[in-house]
Amino acid sequence: MRHIAVAGTGYVGLVTGTCFANLGNKITCIDISEEKIEMLKRGEVPIYEPGLSELIQRNVQAGRLHFTTSYEEALRDAEFVFICVGTPSGVDGEADLRYVRMAAESIARTMDHPLIIVNKSTVPVGTGDWVADIITRTQPKPIDFAVVSCPEFLKEGSAITDFMNSDRVVLGSMNPEAADKVAQLHLPLRAPIIVTDLRTAEMIKYASNAFLATRISFINEIATICEKLGADVREVAAGMGYDKRIGPHFLNAGLGYGGSCFPKDVKALEHMALVQGSHPSLLRAVMDINRDARRWAVITLRKLLGGRLNGKRIGLLGLAFKPNTDDLRESPAMEIGHLLRIEGAIVSGYDPVSMHGAAKLDPELSLAASPYELAQDLDALLICTEWDEFKHLDMTRIHAGMAQPILVDGRNVYDPIQMGRIGFIYRGVGRGQTSSFVEEDAINMITPLRNLVDANGAVST
Ligand code: UDX
Repeated sequence: MRHIAVAGTGYVGLVTGTCFANLGNKITCIDISEEKIEMLKRGEVPIYEPGLSELIQRNVQAGRLHFTTSYEEALRDAEFVFICVGTPSGVDGEADLRYVRMAAESIARTMDHPLIIVNKSTVPVGTGDWVADIITRTQPKPIDFAVVSCPEFLKEGSAITDFMNSDRVVLGSMNPEAADKVAQLHLPLRAPIIVTDLRTAEMIKYASNAFLATRISFINEIATICEKLGADVREVAAGMGYDKRIGPHFLNAGLGYGGSCFPKDVKALEHMALVQGSHPSLLRAVMDINRDARRWAVITLRKLLGGRLNGKRIGLLGLAFKPNTDDLRESPAMEIGHLLRIEGAIVSGYDPVSMHGAAKLDPELSLAASPYELAQDLDALLICTEWDEFKHLDMTRIHAGMAQPILVDGRNVYDPIQMGRIGFIYRGVGRGQTSSFVEEDAINMITPLRNLVDANGAVST
């Protein structure tokens, strides 16, 4: 059993601390927010992550997981301290390191024995050295320490499985002995462990996220071309994915990437490159295409609704930035809702878990209690998040409730032909011929089609 302190009880800190506790270590999680620590002590989990609440409870009961606001208490017997605090985007896209600085200073002021400081927060290349410098300058008296970078690769919604089944563990340090000790902690995961220098480890994280974001923007660009040429991007992606050099992942065309990582990490990498005098044109294209993916939804709805959105009732099905999370950060749905309202649309939304957050974030967005309530009297329904429960909706019932049968599928969840049979004017992302009839004829067809659809949603042609 190793003693580990974890600074920051956000997403990364809670998952990391809990999973290390579950591997048999003694973990103390520290946060400067008393409110968060009190919640955690009461057994409440401030974020939604499948399985996390149960795992926290089990490890707290086993006496392996503790929460505190006191660095003294957390560092008392600790051999390692993981920095897992947030690194939001600054004004120019650079990573804002104020919380990393605060954590490093608190560690330096409190430590009274040698420590291995492990940086898990996503930080610009060179931050490991900067943290080492802060510690040296802030320590009241010199005590040995080493800094190791150990970037996280957790996906929201599957973070625990991702941790326990890591594809790889990346460790960067100028101190091989410290890197080896951190490697030992990860041995039970039986994952490949890559040991490198500090800056390379920090870069691996940015390059990985930027590459995944590039795949998404790439397939979205292909989707735009598919749409014009009459090909189906879903099948194109499937056909590409069989090539082992390409693989099938992160090739789902749609409204693009959101969340707390990709948007900020691609921006931060661009910023790092610019500062060094490089021209990161690929990263810029990735961000432009991602922005256009959201605009596509607005343009498509405007076109299908006769050229104007003013007064049109539009429902957003799914608000979280992706399924299995309540996270609304950089969520395409929230931005699209805002853009639609700017053009005068009346926008409502539904999400299985993020309604509370959505009400706080955008008080003007009206919320429905179910997808069926949302559909009532809508002029158009836009699928923003591919929650599993949306794949099993009674679409005939949805259709029956709507004022106009316009369905824009921003995540390519539904089968265009089936939706057409129900009576929807369906439009997916890059679905080519399967939905191309909509593009030419939709504006003229909306009213006549509506008249041809009976109460059960069957088309009588
Ligand atoms: C990501 C990285 O995957 C993870 O390694 C890193 O540590 C944190 O950032 P996460 O933000 O949880 O994880 O989301 P992820 O599942 O990677 O999806 C990111 C975004 O891309 C979502 O908005 C998702 O909807 C979108 N996406 C993903 C697509 O649009 N198409 C795809 O094919 C895959």
